[in-house]
Amino acid sequence: MSPVLKRPVVLFMGVCFACVILIYYQSSHSQGKPHYSGVCNTENVNSAVMDQDDPCILSLLRGQYLHPPSKNKLSLEAPEVTNPSMGQAQSILEILKNKENGFFVECGALDGELRSNTLFMERNLGWEGVLIEADPKNFLKVQEKNRRAWTVPACLSTSSSPKTVVFKQAFNQGRISQNQLDDQNRVGSVQVQCFPIYSILAALNRTEVDYFSLDIEGDELAVLKTIPWNNVRIQTLSVEFIHDKEGKDQIREYMTLQGYEVVKEVTDPNWLANDFIFNKI
Ligand SMILES: *[C@@H]1O[C@H](CO)[C@@H](O)[C@H](O)[C@H]1NC(C)=O
Repeated sequence: MSPVLKRPVVLFMGVCFACVILIYYQSSHSQGKPHYSGVCNTENVNSAVMDQDDPCILSLLRGQYLHPPSKNKLSLEAPEVTNPSMGQAQSILEILKNKENGFFVECGALDGELRSNTLFMERNLGWEGVLIEADPKNFLKVQEKNRRAWTVPACLSTSSSPKTVVFKQAFNQGRISQNQLDDQNRVGSVQVQCFPIYSILAALNRTEVDYFSLDIEGDELAVLKTIPWNNVRIQTLSVEFIHDKEGKDQIREYMTLQGYEVVKEVTDPNWLANDFIFNKI
């Protein structure tokens, strides 16, 4: 090669090398999608493609959906009941050896008291946490209890993005409608905004959870499947298995693949509990 040509060739090769390094660096560090840069309201988070922890989703959650823990005195209907849980909380605390100052997630929270799986931990063991309740009627009752936990009036997404759904209100048996079109104008149906559970945790700056109580009348497996398990550490869960259309065995199999063992099943003769108790091995 003539000396006149040599220099541009070396320069060209150098530039190519730099480009390859840059592309490699970007693809391994940006973790996929760039952040969304438009306006952040429910319409946009529901339609744009975003990561579950996109700053847009987090700012919407922090601005409109995360209600801080109450500073007022706990206001219960049955303060004399020591632990209203039907056995789930007792089993979890056995695994966690009555851990103090833990962090819980409970969904659905119902009224924040009846058969609550997290009230005992908050009241007696100094836990903090987040109560998530989709039914607006129930959510009002949750707030009246003055729980020392974050409260979120939303449903949990059954896919990895936020979305609005038709929710059928039925106190402790309310759930996301199985037939969105037919139910949308029915009495007792409301539109509710859902967020992925990981978005809610990210908005709270939380990656570690001691106990996740999941009882949402049938969408449990779909919600579990949205969790990016490498980004969070959830030590224990109780998961209701009786209403899930995909079935009990699938929930157990899926959780086993995520590194959990079934410690026990908590059941009740009156169907007030039908839960797996999972522990991260
Ligand atoms: C989480 O972190 C953000 C940004 O640092 C902060 O603005 C927000 O108040 C924090 N939220 C909570 C619940 O700690």
